[in-house]
Amino acid sequence: MKVASLIGARPQFVKEAVLNKEFEKSGVEEIIVNSGQHYDYNMAEVFFEKLHIKAPDYNLSVGSGPHGEMTAKIMIEFEKLMMEVKPDVVIVYGDTNTTLAGAIVAAKLKIPLAHVEAGIRMLPKDMPEEINRVLTDRVSNFLFCPSELSVGNLKREGITEGVYNTGDVTYDLYLKSKEHFDYSLYQSLKLEDSNYYLVTLHRDYNVDDKERFGAILKALQQLAKESRIVFPIHPRSRKRVEEFGFADLIKDMDVVDPVDYLSLMGLMEHCKGVITDSGGLQRESYFSGKPGYLLMPDPAWHELVTHKMNILCEPDTLLEKIKIGGEYERIDNIYGDGTAGAKIVKILTQK
Ligand code: UD1
Repeated sequence: MKVASLIGARPQFVKEAVLNKEFEKSGVEEIIVNSGQHYDYNMAEVFFEKLHIKAPDYNLSVGSGPHGEMTAKIMIEFEKLMMEVKPDVVIVYGDTNTTLAGAIVAAKLKIPLAHVEAGIRMLPKDMPEEINRVLTDRVSNFLFCPSELSVGNLKREGITEGVYNTGDVTYDLYLKSKEHFDYSLYQSLKLEDSNYYLVTLHRDYNVDDKERFGAILKALQQLAKESRIVFPIHPRSRKRVEEFGFADLIKDMDVVDPVDYLSLMGLMEHCKGVITDSGGLQRESYFSGKPGYLLMPDPAWHELVTHKMNILCEPDTLLEKIKIGGEYERIDNIYGDGTAGAKIVKILTQK
C-alpha cells in the first residue's frame, strides 16, 4: 500500500510526526509532500528535525500569497504529482489552505481521500479555516474524528459514511514526547514555576484588525505588570506589530521567535495559564492541565469550554476572567487514549 500525505503548515507537521511513525511501523509506504505554505526554518524545518519526521519526498515550495493563489498553486503542483505517484490514498490534515488544495485534487482524480481531524466546526463561518474544513469533509472518504462531538457535527450535516472516532493524534504526540520536552528556554529566560503566562496569537480576526489587536496587547501589557508573559510570536503577528506601530505595547513581555513543539511544551508545563487563539494550544493546555484563556469568538474544541477547562474571553474581559480563574473540572480522555495514529493506520490498511 502507498499513501501520500500532503502537509505544509506548522500544525500539520506536528500531526504528521505521529502518522509517519505509525506508517513506518506497519510497513506502509508513505510519500510526504510539503506544500511549503510555511517556509521559515522555525515554522517548518525545525519540526522535521526535532520530531524526527522523514524528510519530504517532494517540496512544492509555494510560499505565502492570497488564499486563492496559494490554494491554486498547491493544486496545480499536487495534481501533476499525484498523477505520477498514483497513491492508494491521499491524506490531508486539519484546516489550512494546503488541506483544501489536497482534498480537491484527490477528489477530482478519484483517489480515496482521508481527512485527519474531520468534523471540527467553528464560527465565524466565513473564516478561512472553517471554509477549508467544511469543504474537505464534504469530499473525504475517510473522516478521522478526534472526538464524539466532531462525529456529531458530521452527522448533523448528513455525513455518516466513512466516519471514525479515532481520538486526536496531537494527544498521541503529547504523551509520546513528554519525556523529551525541552526546558532550555524556560531556563534561559529565568522563568519560575507558575510565574508567567504563555501567549500565542495569529488568527486573522485578532491580529489583522488594528483596533482589536491593540486592545488585546493593551490587556496583556496590563497583565505584564503582575506576571511575566512569554509570547512566541507568529510571523503574521510580528508583521502587524510593526505595521500598526505596536512595539511599545509588547516591550514588557518576553517576545521570542516561534518555537518548536518540544520547546513550546516545555514552556507550557510550568506556566500559570495559556492565552491563545490556536486550536492546537487550546487542546495542549488541557493535556497539560493548564487553564486556557481563548481569544476566539467560538472555540474549535467546544468540549473544553463546556467542561470549563478553557475559558472564552474578549480583549476587554480577559483580565477579569484571569482574575476569577476557572473552575477546572478535569475530564479525561475526551480526545481518545493516545492511540489515534495506530487506529487510523489500521483502518486504512484494512480497507
Ligand atoms: C495558517 C493556517 C492556520 C494555522 C496556522 C498555523 C490557513 C488559512 N491558515 O495560518 O489555520 O493555524 O497556519 O501557523 O491555511 N509567514 C512567514 N513565514 C512562514 C509562514 C508564514 O513569514 O514560514 C507569514 C506570511 O508571509 C503571511 C503570514 O505569515 O503573511 C500568514 O501565513 P499563512 O500561512 O498565510 O497563514 P497562517 O496565519 O500561518
